[in-house]
Amino acid sequence: MAGIIDGKAIAETIRADVAAGVAALTAAGGAVPGLAVVLVGDDPASLVYVGRKIAQTRQAGIRSFEHRLPAETGEEELLGLIERLNRDDEVHGILVQLPLPPQIRAERVLDAIDPIKDVDGFHPVNVGRLSIGTDGLVPCTPLGCMLLLETVIDDFRGLKAVVIGKSNIVGKPVAMLLLERECTVTVTHILTRNLPDIVRTADIVVVAAGSPGLVRGEWVKPGAVVIDVGINRVGEPGKGGRLVGDAAFEELGHARAITPVPGGVGPMTVACLLRNTLLAARKQQGADASPKKGA
Ligand code: GUN
Repeated sequence: MAGIIDGKAIAETIRADVAAGVAALTAAGGAVPGLAVVLVGDDPASLVYVGRKIAQTRQAGIRSFEHRLPAETGEEELLGLIERLNRDDEVHGILVQLPLPPQIRAERVLDAIDPIKDVDGFHPVNVGRLSIGTDGLVPCTPLGCMLLLETVIDDFRGLKAVVIGKSNIVGKPVAMLLLERECTVTVTHILTRNLPDIVRTADIVVVAAGSPGLVRGEWVKPGAVVIDVGINRVGEPGKGGRLVGDAAFEELGHARAITPVPGGVGPMTVACLLRNTLLAARKQQGADASPKKGA
């Protein structure tokens, strides 16, 4: 039987560590960290994600500043808000929920966020820092994947990692993080030829393809570790509908360890967002930015 990597429990530990870090920062005279979350429009999935982020932000003792804008908001108006948040000393982290409505260019908005407040790690400066391996803010989901992998792998050096998915949010940054740990990394995607053969070479599989059950049992070599970033709703809610990942979980008993969906990578994203917010607040206040191990 494959070991189950309990992302829910690991995320809870991280959130408790962040809450302790926030308490220590304020006890030492620092300002309470603040996170601004910006949501444009009313995409149902985004509403759920943002609601979760705001609730967990408050639970960790971080101040939450919520900005909900109508779907027809213009690009200049949103850029104006970002500019104000950049200048606001009570705001240490800024998150603009994606996707944005079609009239707004996400690239312009992400470029406008001060890199030191970019708790999503999507600003080109932070993307660049990640690619050259220097200190910056790292995207939350990839960071969560690495923290989960660290619970089952002591030494990453020389391991073969296959990433399925090439998004800026998960695939590319997680590949950079694995490379930084001296894995041999192959980035693949849905159009990659011979994908099963490539995946079969992997000690570590990270799948973020948005394709339910894509990674079949026979694609994965015995003893590999599988991190499933997929969150796919199959069937209708209330009528037996449920969430499934991008890996065929039931076929992967021969893996060394696997993340479940739900309860694997999902809870780690918000935990890492809080961790990044504490990190950003410490940096902006000149406090020691290095997180406690695991925090
Ligand atoms: N939409 C889906 N995932 C994310 C994320 O990690 N951050 C933001 N800002 N939007 C998202």
